[in-house]
Amino acid sequence: MKNDKHQISPRGSFSGRLGYVLAMAGSAVGLGNIWRFPYLAAKYGGGMFLLVYLLLVVTFGYVLLVSETALGRMTRKSPVGAFAAFGKSLPFRLGGWVNAIVPMIIVPYYCVIGGWVLKYLVGYLGGGAAALAGDGYFDGFIAASGSVTLWFVLFSLLVFLVILAGVKQGVERVSKVMMPALVLLAVFVAGYSVTRPGALEGVKYFLVPNFADFSWMTVIAAMGQMFYSLSIAMGILYTYGSYLGKDVDIERSTIQVELFDTGIALLGGMMIIPAVFAFSGGDMSVLKAGPALTFITLPKIFASMGAGTFVGIAFFLMFLFAALTSAISLLETSVSTWVDELHWSRPKACVLMVAVMAAVGLPSSLGYGAWSGVQLFGMAFLDFFDFLSNSILMPLAALATCILIIRVTGTQKIAEEVELSSAFHRKKLYTFFLKYLAPACITIIFLSSIASVLGLITL
Ligand code: PFF
Repeated sequence: MKNDKHQISPRGSFSGRLGYVLAMAGSAVGLGNIWRFPYLAAKYGGGMFLLVYLLLVVTFGYVLLVSETALGRMTRKSPVGAFAAFGKSLPFRLGGWVNAIVPMIIVPYYCVIGGWVLKYLVGYLGGGAAALAGDGYFDGFIAASGSVTLWFVLFSLLVFLVILAGVKQGVERVSKVMMPALVLLAVFVAGYSVTRPGALEGVKYFLVPNFADFSWMTVIAAMGQMFYSLSIAMGILYTYGSYLGKDVDIERSTIQVELFDTGIALLGGMMIIPAVFAFSGGDMSVLKAGPALTFITLPKIFASMGAGTFVGIAFFLMFLFAALTSAISLLETSVSTWVDELHWSRPKACVLMVAVMAAVGLPSSLGYGAWSGVQLFGMAFLDFFDFLSNSILMPLAALATCILIIRVTGTQKIAEEVELSSAFHRKKLYTFFLKYLAPACITIIFLSSIASVLGLITL
């Protein structure tokens, strides 16, 4: 197979499969693995959540990863352009834009959580390991509106600076060291966490499915998490696929990305859930602490270690890096959508994104403090934006991709794109999942999300 990467310039291209897998892993591994996955798994059924999540990753996630990458490579376009390549009517435009809009909703509240990570890192640097581990510390912090907003703004500034200064290359180089270091440290912390007295109960809760823990919310949350963690249904893979050489084995790289991302999410769960049992006796209110869980639990683990301050600094530094690289790719995608589609300059697109960040990020950062009285459909702002993007817009974006393939391109065309570089071993499975399983799952999930928001059903 010929490598056509020279023909596709000036559009950038990856240097090969390794470049692509590393870039994808950099985007995939972030807050989703260490912050979002553990709290959802703890809240929505432990082992049951894990089982549903894994099933979704190997079926649905696999189908979407392959489809989006192949469509991006085929059209050499980001999502809006990729959809437009097949038709100019409203449904095509909507399909492209629903994919493109998701990162714009995620990036502001992603930066709010990034701000929390930054705050904790600075806290450890200032020798506050004991204070950070204190009961109620986190709740006090997120209720202090001024401080939490300051950290959100600082983290966002970091992200904008990198994007404007174009030092993304440098960040990527550094993250090649940081990411493996994060994995090693996470293995160490998880090992420490599972060997604490009482932690085995937590390991059991996290790994062994108990059917009594099943609810529709388990499926909805697991699906939203799968989209979020694998960076699918938000235009990223179209864009990355468009940079991909025709010689790169899409099937194999997809599997590698899935393994890597899921591995780190498992490590996240193994660090945090057993520790909840060891340090809080599996207290249900801690287990269901939601977005706060990682920030309550990690400091307790570190405080109980001899060298807690040192481990805390190292861990939060790498965690910050993982969050930063993901936030950069979210913002970069958002900015390039405006640049490509509206032919705006980069600074102008950045100004618009500053406005979006303020409009979505500020309420998210204030929603647990000054604005905690305001609830949207019973949720704080941050939880609402998270729900809106993960449980409503991403299923819609995924549905648009499935419909595009089923009604317009046909699965055969996707298979041909994959086969340009390698045999497509799971072609039959892919076709079956895409045609029947994926649309059915998405529709059910989408409708139940809406029904639950409207209070028609309790999930
Ligand atoms: N997958 C990232 C995470 O799990 O934290 C979130 C993300 C980053 C999604 C970048 C999309 C993206 F473009």
